[in-house]
Amino acid sequence: MIILTCHSGFEDIVAKEAEGFDSRPVELREGRVIVEGDLELIYRFNTWSRTAHRVLLLLDRFRVHGLREIYEAASSVDYSFMRSEQSFAVHGERHGVHPFTSVDVAATVGQAVIDSYRRSKGMKLKVDLGSPDVMIEADLVHDELFLSLDTTGGSLHVRKWRRYNHPSSIKPSLSQTLLIFSGWRGSPLLDPFTGGATIPIEAALRWLNAPTHTDRNYAYRKLSFYDPEVERRERSSHPDPIDEPPCSGCIVGVELNLKHHKGALKNVKEAGVSKVVDIVHDDSMRWEPGARFPYIVTNPPYGIRSGRKKHVVGLYERFARRLPRLLEKDGVVVIVTTEHKQMRRALESAGLSVVDERHGRHGKLWVKAMKAVLL
Ligand SMILES: C[S@@+](CC[C@H](N)C(=O)[O-])C[C@H]1O[C@@H](n2cnc3c(N)ncnc32)[C@H](O)[C@@H]1O
Repeated sequence: MIILTCHSGFEDIVAKEAEGFDSRPVELREGRVIVEGDLELIYRFNTWSRTAHRVLLLLDRFRVHGLREIYEAASSVDYSFMRSEQSFAVHGERHGVHPFTSVDVAATVGQAVIDSYRRSKGMKLKVDLGSPDVMIEADLVHDELFLSLDTTGGSLHVRKWRRYNHPSSIKPSLSQTLLIFSGWRGSPLLDPFTGGATIPIEAALRWLNAPTHTDRNYAYRKLSFYDPEVERRERSSHPDPIDEPPCSGCIVGVELNLKHHKGALKNVKEAGVSKVVDIVHDDSMRWEPGARFPYIVTNPPYGIRSGRKKHVVGLYERFARRLPRLLEKDGVVVIVTTEHKQMRRALESAGLSVVDERHGRHGKLWVKAMKAVLL
C-alpha cells in the first residue's frame, strides 16, 4: 500500500489524479490518500504526481492504546530494507487526544526500530535526526498507528521553476488540485489574479506532460529495493498524457502590480513555458480578451495580508460582474479564497451557479474552493 500526503480537504481530487495513473485509491483520510498497487507506483507518483506532497510506503497499521502497545507494534515490523551502515530517523504525527506527544510517539517507535533490527541482524542502527538515510513516518490517528517509509524526501510541492516568490503565492500542488477540480484538461485557461503565475505555469507543464521534477534526490534511491531500471521505465512517459499539444499563448495570466508581473515573467521563463503562457500587465476588471475562455482558475486577494477585507468585497463583486466578459457560456470558474461567503454571494448575484465546493487547508489557512458555471 502507498500513502500520498496532500492538502487536507482535497483528498478525493488527489485520488482522481491517482486513478489516472493506473492505481486504485482505497481509502481517504485527512491529508492522506491510501492507494493499492506495486512498488513501481513509487517511481510513478514521485515523478508525475502534481497534487501529492509525499509518497509513503505503508509498512503496517495497527490498533494501539498507549506507548507500550506502540512499542510492541513497531517492534513487530521487519526493517531489513535498511542496511546496517545506514542512519534513520522517525517523524511522529498525532491526531486525536492522547496523554503523550508526537515526540513521544517518534521516540518510542525509534527505540522499537533499533531493538527489532538488533534482534534480527545483530547490529545497532544509527539515528540521525538531521539528515537520515531513511525516514520512517509514525502517524497516530486516534487509536490507529500507521508506520510508513518516506520515499520522497523534501515535499514535491516545492518546484524548481519558482524564482520569484509572490508574498501570497498558492502552493503549486493546490493549483494543480484546482485545475483537476475544474475539469480542465488541456484547453484555453485564464487566471485573472495571476501574481507569480503559479496556476498558468502548472497548467502549462501539465499540458506539456512534463515531469513534476526533472532532477532531484528522491529518498527512495537510498532504499534497498531501489531499481534504477524500473525508475527509468516509469520516468520515460506520462502515465496519463494529454494528447493534444498546447496552443501558443492560450494560457493567460493577468496581473495588475508591475513587480508581480515582472516576477511572473521570470517564473514563466524559468519553467520553459513562454510559448504556451502569456502574462498580461493589466487590470482584469478592464482587460478585454481576444476570445472568452472555457476555464478560469484563480486565487484572488483575500485581504488578509493587506488588512483590507472590506476592499475585497467590492473587488469580488466587480470580478463576478466581469465574468460574463471573460468566460464562455457554460464556462467553468474555480476560485479559492478564505473569504468564500463574500465570493459566493458575489457569484450568485452576478447570475453564476456554484455547483461544487471543497473546504480545506492551504498552509495555516482554511480556504474554500468553489466551482461555478456561467449559465
Ligand atoms: C493572491 S495573489 C495571487 C497569487 C498567485 N496565485 C501566485 O501563486 O503567485 C492575487 C494577485 O491578484 C493581483 N490583483 C489584484 N487585483 C487585480 C486586478 N484588478 N487585476 C489583476 N490583478 C489583480 C494582486 O496584485 C495579486 O498579485
